[in-house]
Amino acid sequence: MTSSQQIAAALTPLWRPRPTADGSLTFFSPEFGETFHSLEGARQEAFEKFAIATALPTKAQAPHLQLLDICYGLGYNTAAALEVIWHHNPACQVTVVGLELDLRVPQAALAVMPPWSGSVQAILEGLAQRQQVTKPQCEAHLLIGDARQTIQDLVRQGFQADAIFLDPFSPQRCPQLWTVEFLNLVAQCLAPEGYLATYSRAAAVRSALREAGLHIGTIPIETPRPRKEWAQGTVARWQAAQLIPLSPMEQEHLQTRAGIPYRDPHLQDSAPMIRARRQAEQQASRRESTSRWRHRWGIT
Ligand SMILES: C[S@@+](CC[C@H](N)C(=O)[O-])C[C@H]1O[C@@H](n2cnc3c(N)ncnc32)[C@H](O)[C@@H]1O
Repeated sequence: MTSSQQIAAALTPLWRPRPTADGSLTFFSPEFGETFHSLEGARQEAFEKFAIATALPTKAQAPHLQLLDICYGLGYNTAAALEVIWHHNPACQVTVVGLELDLRVPQAALAVMPPWSGSVQAILEGLAQRQQVTKPQCEAHLLIGDARQTIQDLVRQGFQADAIFLDPFSPQRCPQLWTVEFLNLVAQCLAPEGYLATYSRAAAVRSALREAGLHIGTIPIETPRPRKEWAQGTVARWQAAQLIPLSPMEQEHLQTRAGIPYRDPHLQDSAPMIRARRQAEQQASRRESTSRWRHRWGIT
């Protein structure tokens, strides 16, 4: 066993690996009380909600692409993106920046990786071991720390991403990475023709992306389900072109109290403080309640 395999074997039980429906494994975070991916399929989620939703099959025709992976975690989104890009254009050079709080997560992930291609696997290993990879086709950096701080370095450097993957734990559990102020900084890292994708369809998230000046579109659900789920996520861009417009139901959702975004004026408040600030704003609001909106649209 190599030393990184030993580290992975020692760390992996901390996140209680569990299978998802497509056979790939995810972790569970005791701290946030959530799994790292949808239980419908971790690997599938990385392809559908991030790599495909950010138009990488088309964008891969460019000679060079820049990716920003917010909440890198097990690296599934970076891996799926690289697989898609190099499938469509093996000559595309890619710069990847990942932001992650806890280095032990990508290190532990080395023990549970789905079968990525050899070149992609080597990049994930390099990021977990050295937080930096330089290869002819790829330069990658993993910035460890609170993304509210590390994103500021990227803004100062003028980093412009063609695709941004926004993948924190849910807004209720990790509101600090869904605030208007944080998403403003994220938007500053989005290239003029770039795409930002997230699995979240929460009205608070969508409103915050709009406050950051972005247009938003929906990621529709492929197979119709009972009126409980209405989208698989959200895509944001500087222009409305190429976005799938929100349905009238989704647009109205933004006008309800759920559409009041999280705020963190100095980018340093705790999750309870950020939740309490939003709750106070909701209680003082005269907007329609979200339960009434649900009732009107027959959402169970
Ligand atoms: C839902 S998981 C991301 C899954 C990941 N994208 C993947 O494909 O495996 C959320 C990740 O955010 C990280 N995280 C939590 N708070 C953070 C913060 N303030 N800054 C940066 N990363 C954070 C967690 O350690 C976890 O790895």
